[in-house]
Amino acid sequence: MHPPVFRTRITELFGIRHPILAGGLMWLSDANYVAAVVRAGGMAFLTPRSFPETGAFARELVRCRELTEGLPFGVNLNVSKVEGHNLKLDEWLDLSLRAGVRHFETVGRAPGDLIHRIHAAGGIAIHKCPLLRHAFNAERAGADAICIIGVEAGGHPGAAVLGSMVVAPMAARQLSVPLVIGGGIGTGDGILAALASGAEGVVLGSRLLAAEEVWAHPAYKERIVAAEQDSTLLTFSGAHPMGSWRVLENETSREVLRRETAGARDYAAFSDLIGGTKSRDHAYRDGEVERGMLSCGPAAAFTRAVEPMETIIDTLISEAVAARRRLERLDAMGSVDA
Ligand SMILES: Cc1cc2nc3c(=O)[nH]c(=O)nc-3n(C[C@H](O)[C@H](O)[C@H](O)COP(=O)(O)O)c2cc1C
Repeated sequence: MHPPVFRTRITELFGIRHPILAGGLMWLSDANYVAAVVRAGGMAFLTPRSFPETGAFARELVRCRELTEGLPFGVNLNVSKVEGHNLKLDEWLDLSLRAGVRHFETVGRAPGDLIHRIHAAGGIAIHKCPLLRHAFNAERAGADAICIIGVEAGGHPGAAVLGSMVVAPMAARQLSVPLVIGGGIGTGDGILAALASGAEGVVLGSRLLAAEEVWAHPAYKERIVAAEQDSTLLTFSGAHPMGSWRVLENETSREVLRRETAGARDYAAFSDLIGGTKSRDHAYRDGEVERGMLSCGPAAAFTRAVEPMETIIDTLISEAVAARRRLERLDAMGSVDA
């Protein structure tokens, strides 16, 4: 296990060894994933939406507590813009608080009420969003930290149109609370660049998908290991009412893009491809990786093997340290002295 190297307001806030957060992953962030990250020195978030029954989420909280052996872990609370999709939000928060969770990643619409309730219970909330104006609103609403994602992010980068190299310094210059950057980060060099831009931590998703502890089928992980620079597609981008979605390129996403380009706008035009549990059942469970919209960003291309989470995180930190040394060797005064 890599000793701590970078101490920031994020490592202090979350009580973690490394400034690495593992974002919530629909269908994939279960107790094994979260605990693996936590034990390796980062922070990760369970996604209640991955558990159609509330009882199953409650049991996962218990399992996560056991596996993390007293270390703090987090829960992702996603406020959907879809009417009727937030009915269980309060219950998820209550269950999490009762299970001792005090670290939350909030996402989506106006998180003010949630943040207030989290604070009232002695917890902290990092709000994840793509646009600076949303970040300022969340900061005003009391968020303890902000996570900004660039357009490279796997999953739903929302209204993000800029890469994380651009938004990181923009956000760092304007926010008072600590900043975390995500989207396209899959190496320690990238982590160092984010820290150099003023971020105090990073959020990762795509780089962690082939970790041994992720429950998905070996064929899916092979696909992640084989990913290259151009293996993902950004669907529903621009002003499309469905909201942007970055996924692996496969038969499903190519067909979605084809219908989108042909002018399809509403959910009904895509429901045979994107609804319900398709990605979970076909790709993650059965290994049919050509089927389903499989959230993923180009950072997956930094994956070279299926490895334990601890190896991935230790490697990232070692790379960040090496990158810092490389920069120190560029010091012109130092070279003159030498
Ligand atoms: C498979 C997958 C599922 C995701 N599901 C969610 C989710 O349910 N909630 C959420 O807030 N973010 C979700 N994300 C986004 C991640 O939490 C994280 O913000 C993002 O992956 C960071 O960018 P990167 O993919 O370039 O590392 C998902 C990402 C992936 C790759």
